[in-house]
Amino acid sequence: MKPLRRAAAVSDFREAARRRLPNMLFEYIDGGSYAEQTLRRNTGDFELLSLRQRVMVQDLSNLDMSVETLGQRLSFPVGLAPVGMAGMYARRGEVQAARAAASTGVPFCLSTMGICSLEEVAQAGTPPWFQLYILKDRGYMRELIRRAAAARCPVLMLTVDLPIPGARYRDIRSGFRGLSGAESLLNRTVDGLGHLSWLWDVWLCGRPHTFGSIAGARLSQEQKATDFLNWIAGNLDRSITWKDLDWIREEWSGPIVIKGVLDTEDARAAVSVGVQGIVVSNHGGRQLDGVRSAIQALPPIAQEVGSKVDLFLDSGVRSGLDVLKALALGAKACFVGRAWAYALGAGGRDAVAGMLGTLRAELEVAMILSGCRSVRDAHPGMVDQH
Ligand code: FNR
Repeated sequence: MKPLRRAAAVSDFREAARRRLPNMLFEYIDGGSYAEQTLRRNTGDFELLSLRQRVMVQDLSNLDMSVETLGQRLSFPVGLAPVGMAGMYARRGEVQAARAAASTGVPFCLSTMGICSLEEVAQAGTPPWFQLYILKDRGYMRELIRRAAAARCPVLMLTVDLPIPGARYRDIRSGFRGLSGAESLLNRTVDGLGHLSWLWDVWLCGRPHTFGSIAGARLSQEQKATDFLNWIAGNLDRSITWKDLDWIREEWSGPIVIKGVLDTEDARAAVSVGVQGIVVSNHGGRQLDGVRSAIQALPPIAQEVGSKVDLFLDSGVRSGLDVLKALALGAKACFVGRAWAYALGAGGRDAVAGMLGTLRAELEVAMILSGCRSVRDAHPGMVDQH
């Protein structure tokens, strides 16, 4: 088996995760919705963009890769996107990933569906950005927002592209339902026997396996927070509109980022209700299949609202070269989802830090060979679109 220190690229962390994790967990991370057209477009459209090689343009001895956003300084323009159930990929996985992000100087955004609670992650080091789904139980949502404020989370990220979950055929085929259910448990154990280090590290030593932040939700029996799909189906709210930002704003005085925008009209609406940031995202190709890739959606949105809010992009970022392309087309920073999930599953905190180091090194080379001294100088002329 190739040691992780020889992992050269995100694809190597993916292969290592495939070997270490039970198949159903790997498929849950790796897969997209329906026929996975958008999942493929997310990466394929990055490949269709060419960076323009430029030489001898300026002195590139001292690059500036840092960015300021939402009151924070990032050592380079990348963050860890909210990813559910990371505590099943490695022991107390969200804490490990948060520590890797903090040591690298980039933000970690904790999912509503994290295994570790927001208090556990905050107490372990740097308070995370907190991602919130729009829940039917507004009282509980309020409570979560207050808890995030009490834990000193600096940013609230509202994910708005999941009023209903898209079907993920790989999960149906593997029998994956979340954390509970006899069938799921049996599958996981049988599947896990070929993955002894995972069984020991996560299944035996990494407990408790509940959705930490929402474990106390007052929910009906059928909607208990142990079953991912039931919980999502039973608790996410389709009635949400931009008007709801009014009461959320009353509860939360810090920056709000809206995650899951692909359309310029929606981006304009987000700006008009006063949010500070927008993540251009299709949820990593896990929701409405057939929609455009995030990198394709970015330029018109950047043109429309790029000067009014901080624009971020996720969905399809697999390298530092992709990061530079997104910056050139108007993003202030990128978030990665699968890239850190693979790394965490492959080797915990050190592997996540290693993966971030890889993205940073790739970005550095891409900047030098594009004649770009500061990430803030990235502009659309740096890429050719085929
Ligand atoms: C996600 N994503 C996600 N988003 C969110 O707002 N809350 C969540 O709980 C999750 N959970 C989740 C689990 C897994 C396994 C994946 C892969 C993704 C979406 C995530 O934040 C991000 O939008 C995408 O992962 C970005 O695409 P890439 O980087 O994976 O291509």
